Amino acid sequence: MTASRIEELRKRTNQALKGGGDERIKKQHQGGKLTARERIELLLDPGSFQELDQLVVSRGDAESSIVGDGVVSGYGQIEGRTVYVFAQDFTVFGGSLSLANAKKIVKIMNLAMKVGAPIISLNDSGGARIQEGVKSLAGYADIFLLNTLASGVVPQISAIMGPCAGGAVYSPALTDFIFMVQNTAHMFVTGPEVIKAVTHEEVSKEKLGGALTHNQVSGVAHFAAQDDTACLSMIRELVGYIPGNNMEDPPRKPNQDPVDRPCDALAQLIPLDSSQPYDMKKVIREIVDDHHFFEVQALFGKSIVVGFARLGGRSVGIVGNQPSVLAGVLDIDSSTKAARFVRFCDAFNIPLITLEDVPGFLPGTKQEFGGIIRHGAKLLFAFAEATVPKLTVITRKAYGGAYCVMASKHLRTDLNFAFPHAELAVMGSDGAVNILYRKELAEAADPETLRNQLVAEYQEIHSSPFIAAEEGYLDEIIEPRDVRKKLIQGLNMLANTRESMPAKKHGNIPL
Ligand code: HXC
Repeated sequence: MTASRIEELRKRTNQALKGGGDERIKKQHQGGKLTARERIELLLDPGSFQELDQLVVSRGDAESSIVGDGVVSGYGQIEGRTVYVFAQDFTVFGGSLSLANAKKIVKIMNLAMKVGAPIISLNDSGGARIQEGVKSLAGYADIFLLNTLASGVVPQISAIMGPCAGGAVYSPALTDFIFMVQNTAHMFVTGPEVIKAVTHEEVSKEKLGGALTHNQVSGVAHFAAQDDTACLSMIRELVGYIPGNNMEDPPRKPNQDPVDRPCDALAQLIPLDSSQPYDMKKVIREIVDDHHFFEVQALFGKSIVVGFARLGGRSVGIVGNQPSVLAGVLDIDSSTKAARFVRFCDAFNIPLITLEDVPGFLPGTKQEFGGIIRHGAKLLFAFAEATVPKLTVITRKAYGGAYCVMASKHLRTDLNFAFPHAELAVMGSDGAVNILYRKELAEAADPETLRNQLVAEYQEIHSSPFIAAEEGYLDEIIEPRDVRKKLIQGLNMLANTRESMPAKKHGNIPL
C-alpha cells in the first residue's frame, strides 16, 4: 500500500513538473519566454523554492485535468528574506485562471499577509478559463479582493511576462509595481480585434499594450525589461529596498561609502543660472551610497524622477524634479507618478528625500482640461499625509504652489535644507518684475537696463533662501558638498519617528 502511494506521488509530481508537456514547453521557449518554473528558479535564491498545492487539479472534466492546474505557487527567499510567489504556467490551458487555480493563489496571498512578506506574481495567461465560466470570474474577484486588502500591508509586485487581457489586468493594476517584458508582455482591457469592431481603429498588440506603451504612455507599468531574465533580476533588486510588511523597517545594507563623503561634483553639476538645465539623476547619484540609484517609472512623467537608493545603508525613496525635462515642471503625469511613489514609501516606512528644483505647474489648456488641479492635488495630499521621515533639499528653484507641494516645511517635513543659491518665491524673477513694474518699464528710457536691475534686486530681496531661513521654513542653508552628510545625520536623528494621522476611516485623496 505505502509503496504504491509513493509510486502514485512520484507519478503526480512528475506530471506537475512537466506542466503542459514537452511540446508546449518548446513552444514557450521558441516564443522567447521561460516556463513558470524556470522563472521562479531565477527569481528566488537557488534551491529556496517551496511549492504548495502542487497536486491540485481542476474540478470538472477529469480527463483533461492537469496536475497543478496552470499555476505554480509557494514561497522562497530573495537574499535570505521570505517572499511568496505564483507563476502562471502558459503551457497548461494557456495559463488561464480556473477556480482551483485561483484558490492556490488566494492561499499564498493569505499566508503572505499573515506572515508579513511580499507577494510576487508572474503573469502569463489567456485570462479566465473559458470552460469554467462564472467560476473563473469568481476566482478573479477573490484575488482582486485580497489584492485590495493586502495593499499597504505587504508589498505586491507583478511581472507581466506574456498575455494579460480583459479583467485579468486588474489584479496587477491593484498591486504596487508592474514590470513588463518587452515584446512578449501585453496588457489591455479590450484587444485589437474588439477595438477594430467597435471603433474601427487599427492597432497592433504591441502598440496597444506592450511594455513601452505602458511604461511611456499610459503610466500603467513601472519597469520595462529586455527579457524574462532581466525582469526577474530587477524584481530581486527592488525587493532589496523594501520591507516585508508595513510593520517592519526596510532592510539596512551597510556599505563602504563614507557617510561624510563630500559631494564636490555638485558645484559643477548644478548651474547657478536658473535658466540652465541639468540632470537631477546625476545629482542623486552623486549623493547616494555607492552612486547607485534604482529608478522607478523612468520613462513616464519624466519631469520628475522617483526611485530607491541608500543613504548610510538605509533605504530611501527619492523624489526629484528634473530640470532637464520641461525645466522640471509639475504636470499631470509627473504629479500622479510621484504621488503614487510617495504613498508606497509612506505605507512601507521608507523615508522620503525630496530634491527640489521646480518652476511651478505646467500652464496650458491641455493640462487644465486634463485636470491638473485634481492630479497636482494628489501629490500635495501624498506628501502632506506621509508620516515617514521627510527631508527636503532645495537645489535651486522653488516657485509658487509647487514650493508648497514639494514636501515643504508646512507639510510636516522634518528637515528642510536649501543650497545658498536657491530661489524661493511666488514666481520667477522675470515674471514677477513684469507684473510689479509694468508701468515703470513701459515708461523707462532704457527698459532693458531697468529690467535687469529690477530682476537682480528681486532675486536678492524677495527670493533669497535667507528669508525662508529667518522664518524657520528652512532649517538650514547648507553647502552642496555637505548634503550627503547632512541627509544621513538627519535620517539617523529621525530613525525613531512616530507620527500619526487624526483618527479616520480613510482620507479622500482626489482620484
Ligand atoms: C482556456 C485557453 C485560454 C482560456 C488560451 N487557452 N486561452 N484555454 N481558457 N482563456 C488555451 C488554448 O486553447 C491553447 O490550448 C493554449 O491555451 C495556448 O493558446 P494559443 O491560442 O495556442 O496560444 P497563442 O497563439 O500564444 O495565443 C495566446 C492568447 C490566445 C492570445 C492568450 O490563446 C487567446 O486569445 N486566448 C483567449 C483569451 C481570452 O479571450 N480570454 C478570456 C478573456 S476575458 P491548446 O490545447 O490548443 O494548446 C477574461 C475575463 C477576466 O479573461 C475577467 C476577470 C474579472
